[in-house]
Amino acid sequence: MAVKRIGILTSGGDCAGLNAVIRAVYAHARGHFGWEVVGIHNGTAGLLTTPPEATTLDDRVLGSDMLRQGGTILGTTNKGDPFAFPMDDGKKVDRSAEVIAGYRALGLDALIGIGGDGSIAILQRLARQGGINLVTVPKTIDNDIGATEVSIGFETAVQTATDALDHLQPTAASHSRVMVLEVMGRDAGHIALSAGIAGGADIILIPEIAYRFSAIEAHLAALRDRGRNFALVIVAEAVKTEDGQAITAVHGGGGQAVQTYGGIGHYVGAEIARRSGAETRVTVLGHVQRGGTPEPKDRLLGSAFGVHAVDLIAAGRFDRMVAWSERAVIDVPIDAAIARYQAVDPQGALVRTARGLGISFGD
Ligand code: F6P
Repeated sequence: MAVKRIGILTSGGDCAGLNAVIRAVYAHARGHFGWEVVGIHNGTAGLLTTPPEATTLDDRVLGSDMLRQGGTILGTTNKGDPFAFPMDDGKKVDRSAEVIAGYRALGLDALIGIGGDGSIAILQRLARQGGINLVTVPKTIDNDIGATEVSIGFETAVQTATDALDHLQPTAASHSRVMVLEVMGRDAGHIALSAGIAGGADIILIPEIAYRFSAIEAHLAALRDRGRNFALVIVAEAVKTEDGQAITAVHGGGGQAVQTYGGIGHYVGAEIARRSGAETRVTVLGHVQRGGTPEPKDRLLGSAFGVHAVDLIAAGRFDRMVAWSERAVIDVPIDAAIARYQAVDPQGALVRTARGLGISFGD
């Protein structure tokens, strides 16, 4: 197959490092192979309009500002599943044929899709249905895609959460308070675990390890007995109440109400205050973890993944996801990539590290 023109889109929640991928794809596809690169706007939603919302990328994408820029210049969406597309009347409609027609209208030879496991699964289904030559790149601050050791956006999110603990510690110590920091991560506790260790948390609560307030209280009491006048607690958003209830928030607007995790930090803070009498304050970090300037690791990963994705297309190797493994970029079949969800391993190296440091998981 003679490739002349490829498409690229970002899908799902944004994160830091997406623009580094776009830049690398353009640099390699245009500079090395001479292909045209078409940026599709707002994920697959950009293929639903007539004509499709897309721009042929040019050398402006090569600027180093792309490496520094958070978000995605192409735009994205995390609620536009074309197989169950939410219509204004509340019904869900299969619009996959329209998306495929939009792709065809752009005259593309292959597509690079940058997304999390949900987006990658949708793109694979579209590719199979529409005969699209697809290569995917993993991104998510949640770092829960099993086939890659790290996905784009995770390192920057961990840096942001670590910075937050750096900022909370002095004020916690000044006021003799227990500071609770709630971080994102969807169903996995990777951000809380990594930032908790790096930022010197005393207690890390993650969905993979069940906690009891009695154990949290005991740990706080032991800290006090050793002369500590403050404590730092980091909580992953998917942690449930002690009796197993998920705490979620509903967000309106945007044509569709969306439910996400959110609020467990306030529950934990209130319970600690009620049970131990400690003065607590709660910080919910939210989307600050998604935006911001990409850390060097996300710029490197984005650049390496982008170049490798283009090489896969040049080699005619499709239905694959690029991944990071043992200090190298590799690629795996998409089926294998999305088959394994990567939660925190309660017996893994980082949990053992935290326990070795005397950090409590509340268990
Ligand atoms: O998957 C990324 C993520 O940031 C999760 O950590 C979080 O639960 C969710 O997306 C938030 O989604 P939204 O951007 O729709 O609020």
